[in-house]
Amino acid sequence: MADKALDLDFVRSFFPALNDSWAFMENAGGSLVPHTVIDRVKDYMTECQVQPGGNSAIARDAQGRMKKGYETVAAMINAEADEVVIGPSTTRNVITLAAALRDSMKGGEVIVTNLDHEANNGHWRRLEEFGITVREWSVNPETAELEPEALRAMLSDKTRLVCFSHCSNITGGPNPVAKIAAMVHEAGGFVCVDGVAFAPHASVDVKALDVDFYLFSLYKTYGPHLSVLYGKRELLLDARGQYFYFHGEDNLPLKMNPGAPNHELTAGCVGIGEYFEALAAHHLEEPANNLHGRMRQMFEIIARHEESLSARFLEFAAKHPKIHLIGRATPDHDSRAPTFSFVIEGVKSQDVPPLLEARGIAANAGDFYAPRVLEAVGIDSADGAIRCSFVHYNTVDEVDRLIGALKTIADG
Ligand SMILES: Cc1ncc(COP(=O)(O)O)c(C=O)c1O
Repeated sequence: MADKALDLDFVRSFFPALNDSWAFMENAGGSLVPHTVIDRVKDYMTECQVQPGGNSAIARDAQGRMKKGYETVAAMINAEADEVVIGPSTTRNVITLAAALRDSMKGGEVIVTNLDHEANNGHWRRLEEFGITVREWSVNPETAELEPEALRAMLSDKTRLVCFSHCSNITGGPNPVAKIAAMVHEAGGFVCVDGVAFAPHASVDVKALDVDFYLFSLYKTYGPHLSVLYGKRELLLDARGQYFYFHGEDNLPLKMNPGAPNHELTAGCVGIGEYFEALAAHHLEEPANNLHGRMRQMFEIIARHEESLSARFLEFAAKHPKIHLIGRATPDHDSRAPTFSFVIEGVKSQDVPPLLEARGIAANAGDFYAPRVLEAVGIDSADGAIRCSFVHYNTVDEVDRLIGALKTIADG
């Protein structure tokens, strides 16, 4: 028997903040949270909010719950628990990583892009102040896409690190991570991949991708406001520790996490796994034998639903003469995530979100901390683009509501 199509009533019943009176379409900014996560955070704070790991049952309980949080997050991306650093944000994790790798990169080159969010970008560019050459792999301004062959021409024995995104938070377009990683490895360098805009929509397998460093934000992936930095164990061991000297250089992942992660939110990550387990139990005929596999199966089902939302939106937006979409107009999951940025001819982007809000739709306009790509494709980043981003709990009815509102605004 085939797996079920995504049961939206079942999905939506997990998210207390969802209701039918408004449509949430700024998911690329931060997703809503299922009650399983809320419950885990509340339970931790109610039952064992103490310094974890001391000599008492309550402290051991706290430590055990945090450990399960690490294990859940590691399982999500097919990593081991000591290879994942749980920090406050992707931005903060990149800053820590850049400081940890700085000495090892002196005399070499770092390549960044003008497609990426500034998180996996600006703090690498600052390494120039430490004698590291920084080069930019630029998008094709016609397509807003990075071309792997253009990167190939930039690689040399000086290349230490290439920083790029799995998927753009503006265009929704994915990059072929495994192919790029193989190319960079052949040249003797490493890759640091920003998976923030990708992870809410698809399964990530850091081993299959063979990435050296990979980051994503849990608060956009149905979890609490935290972020994950994955690193290959040998690279994390080689990196310079960023916590206190007495923690030692072998103490993973703590050495890469100054101040240690937020306790209750780390414990809350267990609830992300529980949410996907509930989805799997409800939808899958033949569930895989581990959480990573079951999440991969669920994301396949989710992809079909998200494609139907994208197809609906693109059918309208790609054909409307006044709406100019940035990125691909094809709905399939291999071509794009359901994150759509666009401008409307004759309308200021900044004026659009309040008009949408008046129609019960939450969306934003701006540069979304990726002004370089907007400038590259000729959009004034001060006004920016309108962004509407869907995830699996959005419905076709909500997309239709958005289409109706945009039609009124664009047709003026
Ligand atoms: C693609 C992408 N990368 C990185 C970030 C930064 O994440 P954080 O807020 O966890 O620092 C964002 C946030 O919007 C993003 O969209």
